[in-house]
Amino acid sequence: MRAIIPVAGQGTRLRPHTHTVPKVLLHVAGKPMLGHILDELVAARIEHVTFVVGTMGEMVQKYVSEAYSGLKADYVHQEELLGLGHAIWLARPTVTDLTEPILIILGDTLFSADLPAVLNSPVSMIGVKEVDDPQRFGIVEMAGDRISNMVEKPKVPPTNLAIVGIYYLRNAALLFECLGEIVAANERTEGEIQLTNALCRMVQRGEIIKPFMVDGWYDCGKPETLLATNRTLLEAKYKNSVQADAARFPGSIINAPVYIAPSASVENSIVGPYVTVAEHSAIRNSIVSNSIISSWASVQNMILTESIVSDRAKIVGEAYRLNVGDSSEISLGTLASRNRT
Ligand code: UTP
Repeated sequence: MRAIIPVAGQGTRLRPHTHTVPKVLLHVAGKPMLGHILDELVAARIEHVTFVVGTMGEMVQKYVSEAYSGLKADYVHQEELLGLGHAIWLARPTVTDLTEPILIILGDTLFSADLPAVLNSPVSMIGVKEVDDPQRFGIVEMAGDRISNMVEKPKVPPTNLAIVGIYYLRNAALLFECLGEIVAANERTEGEIQLTNALCRMVQRGEIIKPFMVDGWYDCGKPETLLATNRTLLEAKYKNSVQADAARFPGSIINAPVYIAPSASVENSIVGPYVTVAEHSAIRNSIVSNSIISSWASVQNMILTESIVSDRAKIVGEAYRLNVGDSSEISLGTLASRNRT
């Protein structure tokens, strides 16, 4: 079976990080976002993957070929970001066998679900999750146990089942027929050629599509959701994995859960909870919690929290030398933070 992973988006909500790194290569809980997805695919024995890439696509290609050399990967380039439906349609030439099912996973959708069970389903399936605010999402409408319609950001939501971004579609020929039609007609909703419009056409032509429940759905689209996902996944995967080891982290306290890459160094610092420190990064004389420090970055003399530090960034704070007398009053920091205390 073939998976298609669209990763061409610009990740505007994660600027400035996405100016130099594609969103899906940003680190979260010990590896790039895309790595978490590819681990699920490898575990489910999916060998063929088409990546729809945009600017900086060569970085995605380099990462996949180095970290997942066993995958048979194809790359198609989406020059103009016309929408998800358009991105999937571009993958059509790489799908050599239209009788095989297709799995589509959005490159920024981290999830926990029983993927092998979904891949054994005799009918097409779309991952959904119950949400409190369905007006913000693509929502499925149900007829019995089947999906009868899909609507983007409905004012009056028919259900509270949001479309998560995992689609198992058994009829690849019909999928590309419907996508081809909406691309040819330049049919757009909210300015974009939507995958959901093609899926609705499939349903209208008799394709049975059922929903499957996704237990965990971890958004990585914005700084605050990337940090929240970092916390959740570290809690799940790295609760006790890094011990305060005096030889490896001299003079330091490590508060789990954290991920510290083997090639990263930590000295005279307090790291954690909820910190990812990627390859070859260095933390010295600092206190870091609830943060993501990417590869080859350096943090010195800093108190950092809720921070995302990109590759090769260097942050150096100050240590103060004070000679302070009895009953002195000293406030360091901005006026606003001073007024809070
Ligand atoms: P999003 O719209 O959530 O991601 O698309 P984005 O565009 O990268 O982020 P923002 O909104 O600018 O911050 C969901 C997924 O679909 C892909 C994106 O790369 C992302 O993985 N996508 C979306 C494409 O590949 N092409 C498109 O035209 C649209």
